[in-house]
Amino acid sequence: MKIVISGKGGSGKSTITSLLAMDLIDRGYRVLVIDTDESNYGLEALLGIAYSQELMDHLGGKKAVGEKMKAAFSKGANEPAIPIFDKSWSIDEIPKECLSTKGSLGLLQIGKVKHFGEGCACPMGGLSRDFLKNLRLGPKDIAIIDTEAGVEHLGRGVAKGADLVMAVLDPSFESIRLSGKIREMAEEAGKSAYFILNKVEDDAAERMMKALDPKEIIAVIPRNKEIERLGLDGKPLGPNVDGVSDITTFVLRSMPGA
Ligand SMILES: Nc1ncnc2c1ncn2[C@@H]1O[C@H](COP(=O)(O)OP(=O)(O)OP(=O)(O)O)[C@@H](O)[C@H]1O
Ligand SMILES: [Mg+2]
Repeated sequence: MKIVISGKGGSGKSTITSLLAMDLIDRGYRVLVIDTDESNYGLEALLGIAYSQELMDHLGGKKAVGEKMKAAFSKGANEPAIPIFDKSWSIDEIPKECLSTKGSLGLLQIGKVKHFGEGCACPMGGLSRDFLKNLRLGPKDIAIIDTEAGVEHLGRGVAKGADLVMAVLDPSFESIRLSGKIREMAEEAGKSAYFILNKVEDDAAERMMKALDPKEIIAVIPRNKEIERLGLDGKPLGPNVDGVSDITTFVLRSMPGA
């Protein structure tokens, strides 16, 4: 099961990614978290795990990967493909230098923007898409893909290899508006989009539900002061956050063969 987590900036994508990962691990699954956000750091702190080498650096760096993408494209491929992905990879085949682990949790980062004027992040998008498409999972493996804010990852086709697209919506007009675009783009990839209402207080959930199809809402996570505190201190998130088990239940019900 491969799950893409989308949503607007600051809606709680990385927080939900981390909470869901920890809950699935508690239920006996092996979880690979893939950090495809090329700009933001911090997922490792939420998970209480160190970052390892970026996959991009392992493959020779952004310039080298970008050149391979361009070469593949000029051969007439429909879309830029990175030739290294000529076979599928299991979690165990991910280069050890690139995988941080803690028990049944693995964290892989695709690559970050590091220098002023280094150019666009297209190679990160292509690498994320091809990695996900070629990732082979076992029956007790779940991959959760944390993405950058907005819909660029959908525009780059990252969701192509995913089984589920879940968007995190905070109580804002921007989130509700973006949910329509995410639904539309997920449908173009042949997937359904599901929504998690996050940071909800007072009557916000009720008001958000009026603007959404209730069938698409899989969980409501209240605004949680402990999450805010841990986030500010850069400390790992804890278990038993209200509403997270609803996401887990939905994911497990959607597993192939469930
Ligand atoms: N349920 C919640 N209650 C309170 N605070 C929350 C909740 N969920 C997330 N936050 C806080 O909101 C902020 C943004 O969360 P997070 O970094 O997970 O968002 P994001 O969507 O990944 O952001 P970005 O688009 O920058 O990657 C953080 O300070 C986090 O602690
Ligand atoms: Mg994030």
